[in-house]
Amino acid sequence: MLEWKLRLATHKDIPALHELIPRSVHHLQKDHYSHDQIEGALGSVFGVDSQLIRDGTYFVVEDTSIIGCGGWSQRKLLYGSDQLRSVDESCLLDAKYDAARVRAFFVDPNYVRKGIGTAILRACEEAIIVSGYTRAELVATLTGEPLYAAYGYIAVERYDIELAQGLALPVVRMLKSLS
Ligand SMILES: CC(C)(COP(=O)(O)OP(=O)(O)OC[C@H]1O[C@@H](n2cnc3c(N)ncnc32)[C@H](O)[C@@H]1OP(=O)(O)O)[C@@H](O)C(=O)NCCC(=O)NCCS
Repeated sequence: MLEWKLRLATHKDIPALHELIPRSVHHLQKDHYSHDQIEGALGSVFGVDSQLIRDGTYFVVEDTSIIGCGGWSQRKLLYGSDQLRSVDESCLLDAKYDAARVRAFFVDPNYVRKGIGTAILRACEEAIIVSGYTRAELVATLTGEPLYAAYGYIAVERYDIELAQGLALPVVRMLKSLS
């Protein structure tokens, strides 16, 4: 039985997240993306968005070390790390009109299918509702899609994120009503 606990991430967790995210992506996404796609997306599409930590909307799950992370956001950006964020996409959403974002879930490959993604998603949705939003939106990897689909997120658009060297990463935009 795992004894993990969920808490808000702090700046001190960033080195552990820099280690966890590539490990998670390399092990868990290999059925959906090529090595080159994963390498092309790491650091830009997949990586730490420290704005989420500063906003107090990013969670980690900790056992003896950090074994999962994920969060939500009241900012426009739908995906991406510090490297990808533009000023325009950092702007704040309006709970009256916009869907809150669900962002950047990564679980340690040794701990998958144990409910860690679920626990983080629940914590995000609770915080999103408390903040006055009635909808959540996300851009899922093909690896992440079954998790979100299991909790009522509906696929509304499939498209490719352009990567360097002519590569592309197929993803799916998903929505859920929380009202
Ligand atoms: C997607 C991810 C976060 C899921 O985390 P997790 O802790 O394994 O998810 P959970 O154990 O909470 O899964 C809950 C449910 O989601 C669904 N699900 C999760 N992963 C699944 C998979 N690989 N295949 C099919 N269904 C899956 C199942 O219904 C599962 O319930 P079950 O195990 O009782 O069947 C994890 O696979 C991951 O880190 N992937 C690599 C990084 C990534 O692509 N992140 C998504 C960014 S959008």
